[in-house]
Amino acid sequence: MCGILAYIGREPAAPLLVRLLKKLEYRGYDSAGIATVIDSAIHMAKDVGRVDEIASHLDLTSLRGFGGIAHTRWATHGGVTPENAHPHLSCDGRIAIVHNGIIDNYKKLREELENRNHSFRSGTDSEILAHLLEDNYDRAGNEITAVSKTVQKLSGSYAFVALFRQNPDVIAAARKDSPLMIGLGDGENFFASDVGAFIDRTDRAVFVDNREIALINTQGFKVTDFNGVSLRKLPTDVAREVSDVSREDFAHFTEKEIHEQSQTINRALIQTPEKILAVSKELAQAERIYLIASGTSYHAALLGKIYLAKFARRVVEVSLSSEFRDLEEFLDDHSVIVAISQSGETADILEAVGIARQRGARVVALINAEESSLSRTCDLSLSINCGPEIGVAATKSFTSQITLLNFLASQMAQKRRNQVELEALSKKVDNILAQDKVVRRVAHKFNAVSDLYFIGRGVHYPIALEGALKMKELSYIHAEGLSAGELKHGTLALVTENTPVVALNPEDATYEETLNSVSELKARGARVIGVSNRVSTLYDDFIQIPSVPNDLFPIIEVIPLQLLAYYAALERQADPDYPRNLAKSVTVK
Ligand code: M6R
Repeated sequence: MCGILAYIGREPAAPLLVRLLKKLEYRGYDSAGIATVIDSAIHMAKDVGRVDEIASHLDLTSLRGFGGIAHTRWATHGGVTPENAHPHLSCDGRIAIVHNGIIDNYKKLREELENRNHSFRSGTDSEILAHLLEDNYDRAGNEITAVSKTVQKLSGSYAFVALFRQNPDVIAAARKDSPLMIGLGDGENFFASDVGAFIDRTDRAVFVDNREIALINTQGFKVTDFNGVSLRKLPTDVAREVSDVSREDFAHFTEKEIHEQSQTINRALIQTPEKILAVSKELAQAERIYLIASGTSYHAALLGKIYLAKFARRVVEVSLSSEFRDLEEFLDDHSVIVAISQSGETADILEAVGIARQRGARVVALINAEESSLSRTCDLSLSINCGPEIGVAATKSFTSQITLLNFLASQMAQKRRNQVELEALSKKVDNILAQDKVVRRVAHKFNAVSDLYFIGRGVHYPIALEGALKMKELSYIHAEGLSAGELKHGTLALVTENTPVVALNPEDATYEETLNSVSELKARGARVIGVSNRVSTLYDDFIQIPSVPNDLFPIIEVIPLQLLAYYAALERQADPDYPRNLAKSVTVK
């Protein structure tokens, strides 16, 4: 989703902003641009495309100035066009802004501004910010008051940053429901949507919270509330680890992250015993437990429900974050919400957590990005500890989430044996990764395929859903995951000669029944790819996985599915790291 960035310091801003903007690329974007200020002029360049291409054809690094703002845009309002790319200027070019979020009341505000003779150059909701600031700046006489008057008019979610031609010594910003932080350097300061953008320059950060305005200059920062009343905010030292984002020898971040899983699964188990105890207690005492998440994290939640039922004997509700509102009336101070999110910035989950909090529920978060909005709004948190995940498709974060959920549920049941088995998984993961040639050969056969199905029962059902999601987002092949038992209730009608179906069928209590489903599929001509520790003549292709305790099969069987989607993407010349139309952190609703 949109990435925002600002720099003020002693070195030319543009080359630095272009370099740092690339660190926000993983968020997903379709256009980019920068603006700098010097000699009473704002210089701006922006276009559709990737940062490198735009930087080279518009010569972005040549823009002069020691302060500037930059942006990667993921279109929400207005098509993907150069005009809609950020920054946006006020009519008189005195103010430039970049924005992440959605201004809900932009239509009404635009109408009002046009009636006051403002002329708009883009079709975005964001541009109104530049015009409102322009109206307020002269009357306000300073940047903070101008921003304060502007935010009073807005409804929606936003983090925006503004550059002022008349005062090149400051950059102002405001935040409501979209991430924003300040990086404090030596004679230089930054604003960014995430710490990773400036971490190789400074690890001292100030988190701008909701309904706050901030100002930076070369010497420091100031934060106020939306009324301009000063707030005392202390810098935090953020983990340097977030700068470790090299692809190493891998062709893509996605491939690297799939291969990292033999280590990251183990790292999910490195938990402070007191924290695990505190979370277990919280869950044990709760009258009602809700697991909420989106996308891949939702599939982890579905598996978490099974683990909590099997081990901890707790029946829990699972909800998509975006659908959680329907359960609102059942929440009270005896409810515990377990919010599962890799980024901790997903707008849907933050909204759901807000609803839960209003009702008095306690919030436990399972997160990867420890300096995220979710980590700062929850009561208790556990880190999945898998390091930065750059590929837009969640891979290592998923296996870490389910490993941690398994660990937590087994700890609640005082079933310590499980931890040893979990630790032994690393070797088994290496074993699977060593088979990537087999998986690649299977993926090659998907070249002419338009639809693909994934089936599994019990703990394998969430993995079937996850396999299908990976396939869709990486290869653009339409894919559907379903419980094997549901095939005969409708989807079997779509199975004809050569329809590919991936059957998740390790040898556990679901084995025979899933094999029956495979027979039914074969009888209708389907081409079945078996993923199992036990071979069967029914499979046209077979991906072998090692034997592990039954509840741990999901953790290892999802890895060949990630590889399958990755190789299918390569076969189709799709970029696995940056699937079209998708963003890493979905910070808008
Ligand atoms: O950061 P989160 O875990 O909250 O993200 C949730 C989803 O947006 C995310 O899992 C998404 O579905 C991934 N692209 C899936 O690969």
